[in-house]
Amino acid sequence: MSSFSYHLESAKSLFDPFFIPTIQTILKGFSPSRVSEAALYSLQAGGKRIRPAIAINSYYANQNIPKPNTEDINLNNLLYLSSAIESIHTYSLIHDDLPSMDDDDMRRGMPTCHKKFDVPTAILAGDALNSLGFYLVRFINSNDANLLKDCLDYLHEGAGIPGMITGQMEDLEEEGKSGTSEYRKSLSRKERLLSIHEKKTGALIIASFLLGNRLRSDFKEREAKIKEYSKEIGILFQITDDILDVEGSAESLGKTPGKDANSGKLTYPSLYGMGTAKKMRDDSRDKAYSYAIELESETNQFFKGLPNYIAERKN
Ligand code: IPE
Ligand code: IPE
Ligand code: MG
Ligand code: MG
Ligand code: MG
Repeated sequence: MSSFSYHLESAKSLFDPFFIPTIQTILKGFSPSRVSEAALYSLQAGGKRIRPAIAINSYYANQNIPKPNTEDINLNNLLYLSSAIESIHTYSLIHDDLPSMDDDDMRRGMPTCHKKFDVPTAILAGDALNSLGFYLVRFINSNDANLLKDCLDYLHEGAGIPGMITGQMEDLEEEGKSGTSEYRKSLSRKERLLSIHEKKTGALIIASFLLGNRLRSDFKEREAKIKEYSKEIGILFQITDDILDVEGSAESLGKTPGKDANSGKLTYPSLYGMGTAKKMRDDSRDKAYSYAIELESETNQFFKGLPNYIAERKN
């Protein structure tokens, strides 16, 4: 029987020794700059690293997770893809916190990138981590001619216009920070909220599952079920984020609570009320769990434990 924490810790012990040193090595090839210092500051601030853990466990589903081994080509591929996702995710946080977006002062328990440095540097550090995310994919080593193309497709679907970028745009449209597209005006508030959450947060989480899965030899058979499950996990993740914004403390969150209500964001608690939002979170958790059963053997607990971990997290 392998517990959820075994899966999480094993993924962490593969990812952590790889991620920052690999990026430092890449950046060392270029002259030191304020922007690379700012990018590394945000990467090193930490965070849960849940997206890399998802990619790693999606790849090793129903298998033992090995110890770090630089000779293992598949493992290296997996770690480059996991690093790509975390780099892009960190960029999205830097930009999300900017004054013209959510205007946050604290992230991962530290001053936000633009507070520590300045707004222009934070914009460029975010841009740099976005480019770096796609650059990391070029280190994949495989005889599968379609692998690189598929991975770039998944990353773009998660991070680009099909996913996170449009979700962030819709989130800001809703808040009145930008104009509103004609298309959005035809949707109900419930539809608009679901679309925001699926895209701004769900899309990159879906990509994390699909990238890890893509390295498996049986990826085709698993993909449809992975999509169904990860879509629910993405929604669950952001409903919980909305609830934590109301109920969490700055100390445990590592970011400022109460921001959503102050800025009039469309969230699950603001649209449905806290009681219903929590009921919807619990329903989403149960739904995700029921999908997980089809993806994992009885003795493994990552897919099955993840919904509860996300719903119960404090940061
Ligand atoms: C925060 O993501 C932004 C959302 C998409 C809700 P995480 O809660 O995964 O943040 P870190 O990486 O742990 O800091
Ligand atoms: C962020 O959603 C989604 C991103 C793409 C970064 P939020 O704006 O709710 O995330 P937090 O609460 O600031 O982490
Ligand atoms: Mg935001
Ligand atoms: Mg925010
Ligand atoms: Mg939030």
